[in-house]
Amino acid sequence: MDNRSSVRTLKPPILADGFLFSGVTAVILLLFWALYSVVGPTRLPSSPHFAKPLSSHSFTPSLAFAPSSTNSNTCADLRHDPPSATFYDDPLLTYTVGRPVGNWNEKRREWMEQHPSFKPGAAWRVLVVSGSQPQPCQSPIGDHLLLRFFKNKVDYCRIHGMDIYYNTALLHPKMFTFWAKIPLVRAAMVAHPECEWIWWVDSDAIFTDMEFELPLRKYAAHHLVVHGWRHLVYEKKSSTSLNAGVFLIRNSQWSMEFLDVWASLGPQSPEYDRWGKTLKSEFKDKIFPESDDQSALIYLLLRQGDRWGDKIYLESDYYFQGYWVEIVGRLQNTSNRYLEMERRTPALRRRRAEKVAEAYGAARGGKLEAEGWRAGREGWRRPFITHFTGCQPCNGKHNELYSEEECRKGMQEALNFADDQVLRHYGFAHRDLLASADVKPLSFDFPA
Ligand SMILES: *[C@@H]1O[C@H](CO)[C@@H](O)[C@H](O)[C@H]1NC(C)=O
Repeated sequence: MDNRSSVRTLKPPILADGFLFSGVTAVILLLFWALYSVVGPTRLPSSPHFAKPLSSHSFTPSLAFAPSSTNSNTCADLRHDPPSATFYDDPLLTYTVGRPVGNWNEKRREWMEQHPSFKPGAAWRVLVVSGSQPQPCQSPIGDHLLLRFFKNKVDYCRIHGMDIYYNTALLHPKMFTFWAKIPLVRAAMVAHPECEWIWWVDSDAIFTDMEFELPLRKYAAHHLVVHGWRHLVYEKKSSTSLNAGVFLIRNSQWSMEFLDVWASLGPQSPEYDRWGKTLKSEFKDKIFPESDDQSALIYLLLRQGDRWGDKIYLESDYYFQGYWVEIVGRLQNTSNRYLEMERRTPALRRRRAEKVAEAYGAARGGKLEAEGWRAGREGWRRPFITHFTGCQPCNGKHNELYSEEECRKGMQEALNFADDQVLRHYGFAHRDLLASADVKPLSFDFPA
């Protein structure tokens, strides 16, 4: 049965005539992004998703995590594609938004039956998806920064056995900037039926805890995970109550339908202008008049909560993505505290192959939990993802709230903070978080 007909696209309610809104500039648009998350709660709950306490030298990953993480491609048969028909052979099934796929769960399941070597670990398999513009960056150091941001994602994926797809083509000519990820994620779902989750990570977001693993078991009943706060969505109705720059979406029928509805508020829709006005009037703190993906997502939560709300998880227990301004000033101290932990915990500083790094990440997770380290602004756990909202590394047109110096310094520190965790497995560390080009060899049993 094709349940295509159950998918509606949205039409914006008609606004009163004479609705006025002021003109917009790129600067104001940037301001919007910049304001995100300064409104976050001051206190974060202790995290329920960490591993059991470290028991001496035994590194059994906690049940809170996916078993052996998502590193489950090892035994998959990459040369087996039987001739029997799959959804790929259906000419009506497209990679693009606007034409919903029906029965996607069954189609994925059938594909999996025909490719059984992908079954082990399938429930935990995640594809990271990111991307940037097709043209060279306008800022002279933009492409260099994007390379380092990309390298960071590759590092995280290699350590955790995840695949990554980085795209530089605009898949829908009208779905520009922040809308471009929706057709990309939609295509990735079809391209990767073996993956349970697609994890969108903005190009200007970096992994600043290379050990932390997504608590996927916690999201078992959900299909979309974004960083946000319920009370800001439902009570404050704020356009910055969640951030759409990083999200985890299940490769499911629900997501197929949700992406179509979400996209229907986008610039390829004939209703785009009217959506802009609707969202502007819905969110008092929305500064610019265009419909944007983030406000659109919040709008769907508010206005179609019955249909979508119970499958959307708003994460705020840890930095699923965090605003860089509240993070970068604390990285040096965080680094010092982790080194101090390793000085008193020989098991954590033992040299090891990078391939088994997850075992040590799980062990540290247990110790952090046992010692009561907290995530977020109040605690000293490494922030999982630091998002350089408003810094615009590629075009360099950073938000007026910050100086170019603050952005550049922040990005260097965060990139080197993350890189130190990688270089550790190669026997080196940066001399200083700002010394991108200056590394030192690590002594045996560092940092004892
Ligand atoms: C970092 O640690 C130093 C020394 O303990 C302290 O003086 C400083 O206030 C800390 N910085 C932050 C941002 O907490």
